[in-house]
This record gives sequence, structure tokens and C-alpha cells, in this order.
Amino acid sequence: MASIPTDLSTRCSLLLPKYEAVRGFSHVLCEPLEIEDFVVQSMPDASPIRWHLAHTTWFFETFILKRFARNYQSIDPMYEYLFNSYYNGIGEQFPRPQRGLLTRPTVAQVMAYRREVDNRMGQLLLEASPEQSVQIAPLVELGLHHEQQHQELMLTDLKHALAQNPMYPAYESDAEQTTEKATLQSWHEVAGGIVEIGHTGNDFAYDNESPRHEALIPSLEIAGRLITNGEYLQFMDDGGYQRPELWLSLGWNTVQSQQWNAPLYWVRQGEAWHEFTLCGLRRLNEASPVTHVSYFEADAFARWQESRLPTEFEWETASRKVSVEGNFVESRTFHPAPTKETDGLRQMLGDVWEWTNSSYAPYPGFQPSEGAIGEYNGKFMCQQYVLRGGSCATSESHIRKTYRNFFPPEARWQFTGIRLAR
Ligand code: AVJ
Ligand code: FE
Repeated sequence: MASIPTDLSTRCSLLLPKYEAVRGFSHVLCEPLEIEDFVVQSMPDASPIRWHLAHTTWFFETFILKRFARNYQSIDPMYEYLFNSYYNGIGEQFPRPQRGLLTRPTVAQVMAYRREVDNRMGQLLLEASPEQSVQIAPLVELGLHHEQQHQELMLTDLKHALAQNPMYPAYESDAEQTTEKATLQSWHEVAGGIVEIGHTGNDFAYDNESPRHEALIPSLEIAGRLITNGEYLQFMDDGGYQRPELWLSLGWNTVQSQQWNAPLYWVRQGEAWHEFTLCGLRRLNEASPVTHVSYFEADAFARWQESRLPTEFEWETASRKVSVEGNFVESRTFHPAPTKETDGLRQMLGDVWEWTNSSYAPYPGFQPSEGAIGEYNGKFMCQQYVLRGGSCATSESHIRKTYRNFFPPEARWQFTGIRLAR
């Protein structure tokens, strides 16, 4: 996926510590779980934790071990079918909506599968010649970034499952709750003109961030911080969910059919709004960034504010001024946090994925990789929107300013939020 690096520093053995750290983090995320938590599937979009653990393992097995390891035999030939997500080039797949119906292989068997694949991967990484490394190392990097994507999905899918329970169980009960007051909104000028968009350099990037190319952006202002729960409440109090003129037609249909009247996970108890978080049900903090809103809600909110969402090109250009730091999964807050800073461009990276009003489309000249692995990103470039910046469930080592996440406009279960432009 990334251009093939030629220097010896990319030799496979040097990737082993990274392999162990990233694979190990999947298990760290599972530490607070009970066995029951590994198996449920709360909706077709979400997968059981156990499935994520197996599928990421399947990825290394399918794209690396079966091709490069000597005499590799899968623990169970059925895993190829059960844990293939969507790669038609590999073969048929067990139906996604039914992943929660599988009580075999057991969690223990999936853990054994992980150990087996990790042992064989460790061996391969140590033994690969420099020539083999040129082929294998980029696939290992892809596999590790794939695992990090699924680590984020594990948290959001688990949150969705826990949210179905009226006891509102917490994933992590002792994360600190912030009590900051909301800072004022500020606006930052971005100069218009022809800008360079997309990945450059030798570090890892997905194929969908290339080729780097020129885009034209207007002069604009971008908001200094994310939209807060307090601001979103004002939109609700102003009849936001009852006024069709604020909504795209598809969005209004969705509001009606899904009976949306607040972001996902907002719970009203008496007069007070609460928010279900991975740390349990909490009183709504008005200074925190609003999250679990769809593209439709972000777009309607922007229209209500007489502004708009930025394009992904505007976002990427504005991001040049900031460094890649923020509230990522490493902070272990598992929730977006109010910004403490009072000026400058804040919260661009971390906290919540920011909806852009750019359709997820190929950059001019985009070429997916050869073979089944080319199905990773390219075939989804229809009817989805681009999100930028990463979230409180994203690993810091996974995100980049050129990173393009994508979801359909009605999706709400990811940590998605709103930054305005005008
Ligand atoms: C980019 C988050 C939409 O969830 O299918 C996982 C990430 N790609 N395995 C998805 C992904 C391959 C992808 N999203
Ligand atoms: Fe996947």
C-alpha cells in the first residue's frame, strides 16, 4: 500500500517490537471485559469483540503467513470463511449481521489462534531476508494499522453493546471526569488558493491518501474548537430536530424514520440530559465536544449556525498549523474532553472524528493495490463522507493529517463530531 521502502531499516526484524506492541494493545483493551462481552453483536454495523480479535489475526494469516511462511497451515480451515470481512478476492464470507450468533470458536480458541499466528509472525519477521522484507514489511505495517483501526472499532462496538443495557455498565469506571467550562469559539483564517493534498514521504499511509495532488480552496475561516454539547443543546432547544428546512432530504427522512431527537447515547432523566460513555452514564457536560452525531446532524447544525462543514481539503490545509497531539486512546479517558486552551486552532487531532462535507471519492489518479488487498479502501468510495482528525478511541501512532476515515452519512456509533467553517 505504501510505496515500497528500499532501505534496510525497514527489514522485518525491526518491525517485531512494533508488532508485539500493537498486537498486545488489543489485549490491553480487553482487560476490563467479562467473557460475556466478547460475543454479543448489538447491530449489523458492529461486530463482537471476539470477531475483531479473530479477523485482525486472519488478516496477518491471509495476506502474510499463507503467502510467505514455510508450511503454514491454519489452525482451522473454516477460519478463512468465518473471519474474512469483505475480501471477495479471498472467497465467500460468513454473513456480517450474524457474527453475534457464533458461539464457536470460543474466546479461548480465538486467543489460541492469536498466539499461534503471533508465534509464526515472530518467526517470519526474524527470519525474513532483506529481499523478502521488501515484500513483507509493507504488509506487516498495513496489518498493524488494520489492527489499530479494529481497536477503535472494538471500543465503539463495545460501547454500542453496553448502551443497550438499562444498567448502563461502564467499561472503565475510574477515568477522570473533567469539569472545565466551555471556552469561547474563535475563527481562523485559511488563505485560499491551490493547495497540495494527500500523503507524501516514506512513512506509512493508506492507498486512499494518494496520489498527492493539487486542489483549489477558497479563502475561509475555520472554527478554533469543536462544537460543544451546550451549543448542540441550543440547536435542540431551538427546534433543530423539528425544522425540515435545516435538513437535507435524506437527513430529514432519517430523523423521521429513526425518531432522532438528540445525539446517540443521550438519555434524558427528568429535566437533565445525561450521556452514556464508556465510563458509564454521566450528567451531560456542556463544555465537552458533542459526539455520536451523524453527517446529517452535523450538516443541519451547521445550517442552523449559518455556516457549513469544511471540505476535507480545507481541513487538511488548516491542519498544517497544528501538531499531531490531542486526546487519543492513550489518554484512557475514552471520551472527548473540553479544550483548556482559549485560543488557536484546537482539538484538530483526537477527541472526535470531524465530519467534512467531502464525499469519499478517489483522488485523481488513485490506484488501489493489486489483488484482494486492493479491496481494503477503494471499493467503498461511494455514498460515504470523509472524516478527519482521529478520536479519543484512535491510537496516536495511527493518525496523520492526511488520514481519510469514511462512514455513511447516517452513522452515529463512532466518536464523530462537528467543526464549522464559513
Ligand atoms: C475506515 C473505519 C470505515 O470499519 O471497515 C477495517 C476500517 N478497514 N478493516 C471499516 C477497516 C478494514 C474501515 N473504516
Ligand atoms: Fe478489517
